[in-house]
Amino acid sequence: MKTIEEFISENEEQTRDFAASCISIFKPGDIVELSGNLGAGKTFFVKSFCELKNIPNANSPSFAIVNEYAGKEKIYHFDFYRIKKNEELIEIGFYDYINDESAITFIEWGDLFEELLPLSRYVIKFGLLDNTKRKISLLKYE
Ligand SMILES: Nc1ncnc2c1ncn2[C@@H]1O[C@H](COP(=O)(O)OP(=O)(O)OP(=O)(O)O)[C@@H](O)[C@H]1O
Ligand SMILES: [Mg+2]
Repeated sequence: MKTIEEFISENEEQTRDFAASCISIFKPGDIVELSGNLGAGKTFFVKSFCELKNIPNANSPSFAIVNEYAGKEKIYHFDFYRIKKNEELIEIGFYDYINDESAITFIEWGDLFEELLPLSRYVIKFGLLDNTKRKISLLKYE
């Protein structure tokens, strides 16, 4: 496990700056787990990342389990929060998604079914410091 970046975000704008710094890091085929409490900014980060990739319509996939966004590169956006058993993920083709080398896959609450995630992945941890302040750590597992 390697720490790539540690970032204090004071507000939404700075979280967008952090997302901009990730544009040159995440490549098609990469898996990015997002962890942190309710409201920590996981969805906000994915929306910001997508906007920078000219994908304007990213939103929380918690009811759909996965959203797919078509841009210059494909993006899959999972949220495991409402999943009760890992079979629910297998049934919708989770492994096909994460093995798609043409897409970047973001997984909110990935830690809930960590056993399904490949060891080789990025992890972004969002810590809620106060109303608008977040500690964001970007790690690489391999
Ligand atoms: N510095 C900041 N960075 C990111 N979001 C911030 C920041 N300050 C305030 N916010 C607000 O915090 C909220 C984060 O909500 P978001 O839906 O992204 O959380 P989440 O981690 O996806 O939660 P959930 O676990 O419910 O999916 C948004 O309303 C956003 O505007
Ligand atoms: Mg969310």
